[in-house]
Amino acid sequence: MRIVLLGAPGSGKGTQSQRLVKAYGIPQISTGDLLREAVAKGTELGLRAKAAMDAGKLVDDATVLGMIRERIGKSDAATGFILDGFPRNIPQAEALEKMLASLGTPLQAVVLMNLDLGILFKRLTGRRICQECGQVFNIYTSPPPEGKHKLTQRPDDKEEVIGKRLEVYEAQTKPLIKYYEAAGLLRSVDADADVDTVFKSIERAVSQ
Ligand code: AP5
Repeated sequence: MRIVLLGAPGSGKGTQSQRLVKAYGIPQISTGDLLREAVAKGTELGLRAKAAMDAGKLVDDATVLGMIRERIGKSDAATGFILDGFPRNIPQAEALEKMLASLGTPLQAVVLMNLDLGILFKRLTGRRICQECGQVFNIYTSPPPEGKHKLTQRPDDKEEVIGKRLEVYEAQTKPLIKYYEAAGLLRSVDADADVDTVFKSIERAVSQ
């Protein structure tokens, strides 16, 4: 299975990718996670990406495409993958199409996670991540058990940055909906439901 999870910040792409990894045994390729890893390691790429990420803007296409090319080329992606947070604009989508065409492995579906702005905002401001085990919680919808985790908040989940990320989504990522609709790949799911229900909707959408 080769799919893209498309949706605004906080729509549940990461949460559902984890479920899909378990169910289908294919890797989640999250450009956000790859970039955060590079920032944490202080690599040259990470240093380049940090300013854009902290400001809620997109990292430049050349950096992201280089990272994707390398990750898709790894052996665990040969049987399929879940792209989470990529592509993020039309040039990235066009580059992906070319890349996959040259490998003879085109995309099979693009799943759009639909969610209202107000809910997105609450999901992002409420997100907390365990520094030690990496588990993702939400203080409103899925709070962690008391005292068991060392919680941290993503720097870009601060209210002032969330606004910018949502603006960038509207301007640069939303046009992908029409792009993938025209390609006959778009499947829409209602992401305003509990995690299990959304997962079932995604399973139905990708088996269409
Ligand atoms: P990235 O890491 O991709 O962030 P994002 O797209 O903004 O998405 P999020 O990770 O914030 O949300 P999500 O949809 O995964 O939601 P989640 O499942 O965590 O990108 C970060 C930055 O990196 C970008 O701003 C940019 O700078 C850079 N970047 C990344 N990719 C790039 C690219 N391709 N090009 C250029 N730059 C790029 O859920 C959110 C919360 O909601 C959690 O607390 C979760 O527990 C909760 N939740 C999830 N599902 C449910 C549910 N069904 N019910 C209740 N709560 C739920």
